[in-house]
Amino acid sequence: MKQKSDPMKIPGEGKNVPGEHPGENGRNEGSNPENPDRVEKKNGTPILEVKNLYHRYPHLTANALDNINLKIYRGERVAVLGANGAGKSTLFKHLNGILKPLSGDMLVKGEKITKKNVRTCRETVGIVFQDPDDQVLAPSVEEDVAFGPINMGLPRKEVEARVKEALEMVGLSGFEERAPHHLSGGQKKLVAIAGILAMRPEVIVLDEPTAGLDPLSSTRVLDLIMKMNRELGITLLLSTHDVDVVPYFAERVFVLHHGKLEADGSPEEIFSDPELLKKAHLRLPRVAEVFELLRQEGINASIQITAESAKNEIMRIMGPEN
Ligand SMILES: Nc1ncnc2c1ncn2[C@@H]1O[C@H](COP(=O)(O)OP(=O)(O)OP(=O)(O)O)[C@@H](O)[C@H]1O
Ligand SMILES: [Mg+2]
Repeated sequence: MKQKSDPMKIPGEGKNVPGEHPGENGRNEGSNPENPDRVEKKNGTPILEVKNLYHRYPHLTANALDNINLKIYRGERVAVLGANGAGKSTLFKHLNGILKPLSGDMLVKGEKITKKNVRTCRETVGIVFQDPDDQVLAPSVEEDVAFGPINMGLPRKEVEARVKEALEMVGLSGFEERAPHHLSGGQKKLVAIAGILAMRPEVIVLDEPTAGLDPLSSTRVLDLIMKMNRELGITLLLSTHDVDVVPYFAERVFVLHHGKLEADGSPEEIFSDPELLKKAHLRLPRVAEVFELLRQEGINASIQITAESAKNEIMRIMGPEN
């Protein structure tokens, strides 16, 4: 964790590479829906469980969340996809008790969130909000990042060490004395992420973590959270509109639409379902679009969703002599 990440590396590159053999329909046939790693992770109590969850905001007639049921296991990396207003942020705010369900239950490590345990749940599940202005409120960056660890009752030395480490991790060393309201939107987002990292939660939930970040910061954040998952086993859940990021990051994808959970599958499964993507107002990753175009030209190519697997498929099409 202390090691600095290589900001230029594409997160998870070379992982999650879909199989090379085209399916009947020319698409990858969900290469890892039940791979041994996932089966292993699915043993035991889910770290997060949502049961028959409904949510309705006051004065509205429609439910913002409509009978959501899902389980997330320790160590998983899950992406939540959905159009504007689909319910992603509303769902996330239930995961550590910020919002209360209209009905249904939210369980953390098998325990229903109650008034009594909500504090512990928030130490277990850290949420980085979509809008950093909702989260970054202290007069200086250092104080803001220290806020969580101080509230956890950690000794001063430990707080200082965690603040230093978290700021290093997000690339904001030297920003300690800066006033958050004088930072750029992207920098504020990185401060919010550092504040959660400093608490070292078991689950990190990031609501559109890369929105508003430049490509380098975006890669840095994704690289960092992948590293936390790989090296520390931290469970990750993130929402995004960026379908290109999903195959590199996620082992599992939830699709939300109008407050309903429309799908739960591997990236390969989700991106092999054009009807689902259309219904949920999503699109294929750009890499996959190239393969769709090739197929329209009559080339026998199977759809790929990562740059690495695309390279392999193109080399297969070109043949060994090329
Ligand atoms: N505080 C609120 N009061 C009333 N309605 C709300 C509130 N927050 C969200 N909503 C409504 O609930 C629905 C779900 O909103 P939510 O913010 O969860 O969507 P989202 O998937 O996060 O969208 P986005 O991609 O734009 O962030 C929307 O119809 C939204 O208008
Ligand atoms: Mg949102």
